[in-house]
Amino acid sequence: MVAASAGRFSEAGLAQLTEIVSHYPDPGGAILPALWLAQREYGGWLPAEAIVEVAARLGRPASEIQGVASFYTMYNMQQRGRHHIEVCTCLTCGCLGAYEVIDELERILGIHLGQATADGEFSLTEAECLNYCEAATVVQVGERYFGGVNAENAADLIARLRGSEECTPVSLSNAIVEAIVPGYFASSAHG
Ligand code: FES
Repeated sequence: MVAASAGRFSEAGLAQLTEIVSHYPDPGGAILPALWLAQREYGGWLPAEAIVEVAARLGRPASEIQGVASFYTMYNMQQRGRHHIEVCTCLTCGCLGAYEVIDELERILGIHLGQATADGEFSLTEAECLNYCEAATVVQVGERYFGGVNAENAADLIARLRGSEECTPVSLSNAIVEAIVPGYFASSAHG
């Protein structure tokens, strides 16, 4: 059962959390999906307020929730741009132009790795292998992977993303929540 708490979860979000938690013997087992939900509800990242709300709703210490959230890079502990661009710099992508892509993105956006643009539209970081090495250089933006990115077509990617509602931290978090509820449990029940 989900505990009552002050916070920012929407009615729909609370209903989804209740559904998720109902499938665990202990609400503490639902920390990972609850964090995805919180990341969606809090605009694509997990401020301290989100950690406190998840902890209260699952009946767990905030230190435990913070520890789990900060362990996984998929949870954003800092506010990101509306489009968070992650460039794979692992071996294959690194050898096939990832650093040229980063240089070009930094030039186009006027920022460095780890920074966000002043208008909040884009942020830029490196990523570990995205498991799509054959398409190097690979860039993840929200729920989408873009393969074959190079210094010549990087500007096209930015133009495509600018102003788009696709490929945001919120849409990524929502896609994962939607995949968990109810599909995951429905397929488990029938499996
Ligand atoms: S090295 Fe870039 S996707 Fe694997």
